[in-house]
Amino acid sequence: MTETSGTAIRGQLLWFTGAPDTPSNIHHIEDGVLLMEDPKITACGPAKDILPRLPKGTAVDHYPGHLILPGFIDAHVHYPQIQIMGAHGKQLLDWLNDYTFKAELAYRNPDHATLNAEFFCDELLRNGTTTAATFCTVHPTSAEALFTAASGRHMAMIGGRVMMDRHAPEGLRDTPQQAYEQCGALIRKWHKTGRNRYALTPRFAPSCSPEQMEVAQSLRQEYPDVYVQSHLSENCAEIDWVKELYPERNGYLDVYDHYELTGPRSLLGHGIHLTDAEWQSLADRQTTLVHCPTSNLFLGSGLFDLARTRTENIPVALGTDVGAGTSLSLLATLGEAYKIAQLRGASLNAFEAFHMITLGAAQALNLDHEIGSFEVGKTGDVVVLDPNATPLLHHRMKYTVTLEEMLFVLMTIGDDRAIKATYTAGEKRHSR
Ligand code: GUN
Ligand code: ZN
Repeated sequence: MTETSGTAIRGQLLWFTGAPDTPSNIHHIEDGVLLMEDPKITACGPAKDILPRLPKGTAVDHYPGHLILPGFIDAHVHYPQIQIMGAHGKQLLDWLNDYTFKAELAYRNPDHATLNAEFFCDELLRNGTTTAATFCTVHPTSAEALFTAASGRHMAMIGGRVMMDRHAPEGLRDTPQQAYEQCGALIRKWHKTGRNRYALTPRFAPSCSPEQMEVAQSLRQEYPDVYVQSHLSENCAEIDWVKELYPERNGYLDVYDHYELTGPRSLLGHGIHLTDAEWQSLADRQTTLVHCPTSNLFLGSGLFDLARTRTENIPVALGTDVGAGTSLSLLATLGEAYKIAQLRGASLNAFEAFHMITLGAAQALNLDHEIGSFEVGKTGDVVVLDPNATPLLHHRMKYTVTLEEMLFVLMTIGDDRAIKATYTAGEKRHSR
């Protein structure tokens, strides 16, 4: 090894190189070292092998008794909605009108956007999240604020200015022409600038006219490697409304399919109430579904069929969907995903769960060349978990025997307090 300055992290390492139903895809080193050199992972292995070879002067952050995993990935979240988390008593469409749109109006003010984007990114890091697919508002300043905040923290951020030209109050509606110009300018400025990526963000079919959908389609043709993020079949009243608004289409998903907004790098939140034909289309096109359990429970939207994503071979990732979601913690979100699986007569084991928020999500987002595991050459995005972070965790952990049990307890009773440290691009950005 050459004499460069890097950061080494020592502790119990865990990462995946494929689905954990194949045990050889689970990599666990009791006393391991991960070496990161601006910003990449340059070595990973047992401490006894790596420590003697570390370049002179490398700082070693030692976390005895901690678990070290690749940074978590939140595949669906709305940063402008942090301020309306826990708004009482509505299902989706009323919740949007009564709380969400009111809050989003404030983002025309760049200072408000900046304040909230900075707070949001700090909260992600406090929760061990190093990558997020994030909705902004219709205002270009909201996307500017997000990408600026993420860049300052070297996070791998996917974000987009919401497109919506109908069924929203004055001040939150754009026109197809404005969407084309403003989203195009944001793509040229931010897509693949540093670690940022742009996502075309037609909010959902009801808020986009056919002309607006055509704009999204054109932008995707012009910039074929951008992402698409939207919502799909979250709520029964919403689905009926889409059928009224798009009678010529064969259901909700067909709206997005028709405008070529599906396939790899398209992330559709929810997908709770799908027809067999829709499951088939998602599988055929390899469109990603994002499961948002805390949001689905909070809004009473329904119980996602996670098991069917596996049998149909559909890419799936996990989202907090704040502010309908009730936590930015992907640990807490996994706990609720488990409960929803239970209510559906299925299950979710701890290895599947942690795979879903690391490598599984990276693969679903086509980012597994950069993030999601500790393979040499990937970027150094890391979360350090403290299994003893609270008196309850400490007490409970005394009665765990296996690694899998420990992980399951962390996703059942753990939250942001269990995040000891978070690193992005090889440097510590949060510590507790
Ligand atoms: N559908 C359209 N917009 C939204 C939103 O902001 N949150 C959720 N959960 N669903 C939506
Ligand atoms: Zn959402």
